[in-house]
Amino acid sequence: MSQIDEIRSKVDIVELIGSLGVALRKAGRSYVGFCPFHPNSRTPAFTVYPDTQSFYCFGCHASGTSFDFLMRKQGIDFRGALEQMAARAGVRLEAQSEDARREDTERSRLSELNSLVAQVFHHVLVATKRGEPGRAYVEQRQLNATVIESFQLGYSPEDWSFLFTYLTERKAFRAEEVVAAGLAIRHEHGHYYDRFRGRLIFPIRNTKGEVVGFGGRALGSGTPKYINTPETLLYKKGELLYGLDLAREAIRLEDRTILVEGYIDVISAHQHGFRNVVAPLGTALTKAHAILLKRLSHHVYMALDADAAGQRATLKGLNALRESTEGDGQLVPTAQGALRLESEVSLRIIRMPEGRDPDEVIRADPELWRRLVSEAVPLMEFYMGAYTADLDLTQPEAQRTALDRLLPLLSELDGAQQRVYVSRVEQLVGIRAELIIDLLRGGRRQPTQLQPGEQVRRGRTAVQPPAPPPPPTDATEPLPAALRPAVRTDEAYLLGLAMRHQTVDAAVEALLEEGLHKHPAMRELFGGGLEDLLEDPVNQEIWRQLSSLPPAWRPCTPEDLERWVTQLDGAVREAAHQLMSMTRPEDFRYRQEAEQCARKLRIEQVKQRIARLQTHVRHTVDVEQAQEVIAMLTRVNAYLAALQTPRRSSTFPDLRNTMGSE
Ligand code: UTP
Ligand code: MN
Repeated sequence: MSQIDEIRSKVDIVELIGSLGVALRKAGRSYVGFCPFHPNSRTPAFTVYPDTQSFYCFGCHASGTSFDFLMRKQGIDFRGALEQMAARAGVRLEAQSEDARREDTERSRLSELNSLVAQVFHHVLVATKRGEPGRAYVEQRQLNATVIESFQLGYSPEDWSFLFTYLTERKAFRAEEVVAAGLAIRHEHGHYYDRFRGRLIFPIRNTKGEVVGFGGRALGSGTPKYINTPETLLYKKGELLYGLDLAREAIRLEDRTILVEGYIDVISAHQHGFRNVVAPLGTALTKAHAILLKRLSHHVYMALDADAAGQRATLKGLNALRESTEGDGQLVPTAQGALRLESEVSLRIIRMPEGRDPDEVIRADPELWRRLVSEAVPLMEFYMGAYTADLDLTQPEAQRTALDRLLPLLSELDGAQQRVYVSRVEQLVGIRAELIIDLLRGGRRQPTQLQPGEQVRRGRTAVQPPAPPPPPTDATEPLPAALRPAVRTDEAYLLGLAMRHQTVDAAVEALLEEGLHKHPAMRELFGGGLEDLLEDPVNQEIWRQLSSLPPAWRPCTPEDLERWVTQLDGAVREAAHQLMSMTRPEDFRYRQEAEQCARKLRIEQVKQRIARLQTHVRHTVDVEQAQEVIAMLTRVNAYLAALQTPRRSSTFPDLRNTMGSE
């Protein structure tokens, strides 16, 4: 039994959840209570199943294992949850390596230093004579005492060595530590000076609530307007969202995250009661952000400047989500990653009034802000507007230009979305859907070679969905017996295949999406990605780590993969090794095998869900809720039936595949 299995078997989910402040009452074989993940005090929709050691909320559909509950309830990562579970189980976690231990020490020392510095700057701002300029500034910016406290705002005095002297002479920090924390800079002549001088200070916290760095704003029109901690062991700007520690709860309750551009925007929003607002730290969105956002909520709204410069910056920011590499080696996702973000969380753009940022709008008129949020448009709509704003679409020439600009975007959408937006582009630009589809499918004609008569009048909506590619024949022989591992679970085998072959993930997604597309109500219950098939928290962790690598770093060769596995954390490394040993690099039928596993796993998930829903119907006392659940059961059963219908072959149902790569 692995250490994690041991831990899992020793902690009872009912006790765990009960001990974390959720009152549970026995109802038949399960337990019910009020869900800690969504506001509701009328019906106890939160159900815990001791049999399967899992939970499910009929209200907000939160679900999972003890690990999931802990991670979500406490906003911690897998490692954190593992540590807590280990403590509860009385199991000692495998010792860390020497390096890992040293880094841990350095990390906690740095965190301690940052936390002290945040306190010092805050104290200077709120309670000292030297803080006077800072106080005048926060007053001018209309930041009240509540947010000054909750964001722990501070002031760094106009002084070359205030902080450095304090830390090295009054506290026992070494000069190198202060430099490594990014708080002081070593001058070429050998002396040290403070990085933050005469600035309003914004401590930046990670999801654990540790202070990992600082932003500092010049009080007046000094330049640069903002400076930030450079990258340190703790401060990785591409992975952080400012304000998240304070916004997490509201984000979860609303199931919506609002992204703004700056520190002050975040603080203003919170001050006015909009608490689900966070900001990246002066960077474009990265892959790490995308992953984080996806975990936080299903809806992401971005508030962006409407003026020309702002809009260009916006497009740049959004394009960063679509490109695979960026100059400074930041992690940004591929087009597929962007797609995934768009299909798993809905991405909307809040259009800001000309030249005003959220801070200004919220302060002047909170109602206007509320309205702007409610009128936010889906990402693709926004692009369509932005890309055609300068064109007179009654002119054929402009129509062609518009299509030239929009085709690359359309080609990134998946089948269902693509159909919708082909039709929208037809309406907007006035070019027939058939032609757009033809071009999308790698049609021979370029839009610039448009024939007369291929434009249509506005408002025509008839759309032919792209015809599916001819199904490949499924004539491959079964694997030789020697290649079939004697014992393997579908989940482990699937993950093993996905580790070895980069296209498995997209193939599985395409397969699941096809089913969900035909049974849209199931999206509420089941995700459409490979990660959604993984139940084992260790497998989830392995996949999370692998899939969050930028594509260029994804291990391709067996040797690379071996190396990647070797550097994993002790707890997951062993499991990853096992997974690898279940597959062979030369496994040529991997895609069919993976699809088969995926289908079996999904069927299993659906069956389990049906069982839970049935249990729930039997035990619920609320008639209305029972009816709802029964209606849901009908839909889930239809989905199950479809999954169990044998299929001839596996095809990729959408156009992305013509561009697929391995
Ligand atoms: P803005 O220039 O829009 O600032 O930069 P702001 O948030 O509206 O601030 P105020 O209202 O003028 O005080 C947006 C964000 O871009 C980053 C910061 O994170 C800032 O919050 N930024 C901006 C920098 O990192 N450096 C700069 O020089 C400017
Ligand atoms: Mn501003």
